[in-house]
Amino acid sequence: MTIPLLEARGLVRSYGATPALRGVSLAVAEGEIVAVTGPSGCGKSTLLHCLAGILRPDAGEVTYRGRRIDTLSEADRSRLRRSELGVLFQFGQLVAELPAVENVALPLLLAGVSRRRARTAGLSWLERLGVADVADALPGEMSGGQRQRVALARALVTEPRLLFADEPTGALDTIAGEQVLSHLVRLAGEQGTTVVLVTHDPRVAGYAHREIALRDGQLDPTGLGLAVVGAPAAWAGPAAAAVETAAVAETDAAR
Ligand SMILES: Nc1ncnc2c1ncn2[C@@H]1O[C@H](COP(=O)(O)OP(=O)(O)O)[C@@H](O)[C@H]1O
Ligand SMILES: [Mg+2]
Repeated sequence: MTIPLLEARGLVRSYGATPALRGVSLAVAEGEIVAVTGPSGCGKSTLLHCLAGILRPDAGEVTYRGRRIDTLSEADRSRLRRSELGVLFQFGQLVAELPAVENVALPLLLAGVSRRRARTAGLSWLERLGVADVADALPGEMSGGQRQRVALARALVTEPRLLFADEPTGALDTIAGEQVLSHLVRLAGEQGTTVVLVTHDPRVAGYAHREIALRDGQLDPTGLGLAVVGAPAAWAGPAAAAVETAAVAETDAAR
């Protein structure tokens, strides 16, 4: 088997006396869209932050393209996040003082791209997400769904190889949430971006190729997760996620 893009082994993490992760292992293949699901408080965000190199686990390891990342220095981890990883949060966390296009251009500016090129790229991403009309609007002047699409544009503008999303539709109504998700799935597919998203919402998980269920800081042994035969190449959309369990074991619980 080829090396997974992302792999975690035996992740443990507590906040003081509160255990959040109690030994989580998983692997994600390049091109996959994986949903980590489970009730509020089960450790999803903690897991995501450990996988993304935002939080250091107390024990266990995280490898990205076969290389340990949990032991990197903060500077190296943030360089990696800037160059290869994208992150999208529940509340897009746009900069309130900047219009949409400048919010999207920001990661490119931080990477040293010229103002003009960053702005052009920002506009083109807003177009791809169907929100070019709010390019000059401030976040406070947009709807929740528009804001989250702008935030998605900002997460994708650097064309990350791996995108993390934490409850990306948690603050949206059903229709706006579905728009964000279908953009996310389409663009990830077009670019070959691998996605790890966490959600407590089974409908959101239906957009993924595979589901990893978490409970009380551990993989839920009853939640084998959904696998789609031949995913991701043959993946046909949310409806297809209704098939096939078991086959998942190879990249997930078996480790
Ligand atoms: N910063 C924190 N300080 C203390 N406890 C925390 C903190 N963040 C999370 N926790 C606790 O860790 C557990 C897992 O939280 P979290 O990873 O946020 O779960 P989820 O994202 O599934 O809701 C919960 O019991 C939560 O209360
Ligand atoms: Mg959370």
